[in-house]
Amino acid sequence: MTDLSVEFLGMKFKNPVMPAAGPPIKDAEAARKAVEGGTGAIVTKTISVEAAEVPRPNMAQIRGGFMNTELWSEMGPEQWLEEEYPAIAELGLPVIAGLGYSAEEINELAKKVAPFADALELSTHYLGDDPTPVVESVKAAKAAAELPVLVKLSPQIDIPTFAKAAEEAGADGLVLINSFGPTLDFAVENGRPLMGSEKGYGWLSGPAIFPLALRAVYEAVTSVDIPIIGVGGISKGIDAIKMLMVGAEAVQVCTAPILEGPGFYGKLVAEIEEFMEENGYSSLAEIRGLALDKLPEEDQFETIPPTVIRENCTSCELCIKSCVYEAIELDESGEFVVIDEEKCAGCGLCVTRCNFAALELVRPGEN
Ligand SMILES: Cc1cc2nc3c(=O)[nH]c(=O)nc-3n(C[C@H](O)[C@H](O)[C@H](O)COP(=O)(O)O)c2cc1C
Repeated sequence: MTDLSVEFLGMKFKNPVMPAAGPPIKDAEAARKAVEGGTGAIVTKTISVEAAEVPRPNMAQIRGGFMNTELWSEMGPEQWLEEEYPAIAELGLPVIAGLGYSAEEINELAKKVAPFADALELSTHYLGDDPTPVVESVKAAKAAAELPVLVKLSPQIDIPTFAKAAEEAGADGLVLINSFGPTLDFAVENGRPLMGSEKGYGWLSGPAIFPLALRAVYEAVTSVDIPIIGVGGISKGIDAIKMLMVGAEAVQVCTAPILEGPGFYGKLVAEIEEFMEENGYSSLAEIRGLALDKLPEEDQFETIPPTVIRENCTSCELCIKSCVYEAIELDESGEFVVIDEEKCAGCGLCVTRCNFAALELVRPGEN
């Protein structure tokens, strides 16, 4: 039996997957669909003291990712308090309520939202070097509500500085990362920006930011003792597994359920479960943090030619095509590739391009 449940700050998630603040969780109806889709918890769209006025257009699919210039909820707190939160609280899953942005606003909102929430998530779309606004927001939330307070961090900041400041201010957990930017893209036919915001700037999410998110989560996990939820670019079960392997307790997703619909949550859960079953893991605790001691503390300079696993090779020649050192060729039999160790520079590219796990980089002493 595979156990996918997560204990997190007194909440119990039936699985580690939940929506990240954004359109897939923009109201109670969206939350109901997320629950049907298989989410393990509910995170609500960030609200502030007033409804946001959002430029249009504000969402675009771009190559490798997604761009948005949404702000917080376009519904004011009254609508949330009277209609949305009460309906969401009925859905029977733990609720993490998204709030923004200044300490004063958070103080005002946290008191009112607390009866409907199991935890608060403070969104900090913040680009500066000074963590003071984050510290003040945490203190305001803690003073206003007896609930666990999570701080959601942007990727543009120095993660250890902000993570430690949030922890010292009393944050109970962290969520990383928010979208990355500002970024720009436009339609080549007419030069019009994809976003209707000032200068056409938008914020990047989706697969393009996954390695950025993974690095941010790693830095946070190794800087503080409070638990962390990983978010940013997760589109496959294996991405969620990697987040757990650098120490995240659970994951959030926004772009993928926007593009694929609420059934994405259950699909991601099924892919996580499949990976665990195939690799003999029975609980998430067995996976959590597994990669941490594999990340080298200093640069590695040794040239290690990849090992060819002949039975996996399909002779597709993808690796040959992209070997800039011309170190790979087909064996005379034509059934597998061979590496010329004299020419190989140990760059590692072929290992990552192979679709059949036929190339492997094994450092001396590793198995
Ligand atoms: C259209 C859109 C709206 C978003 N709105 C919010 C928001 O209200 N509050 C927030 O903290 N993050 C917001 N985000 C950021 C996401 O919650 C998430 O941190 C980011 O998109 C990275 O995850 P992803 O790659 O899975 O989308 C939004 C993202 C998108 C794409």
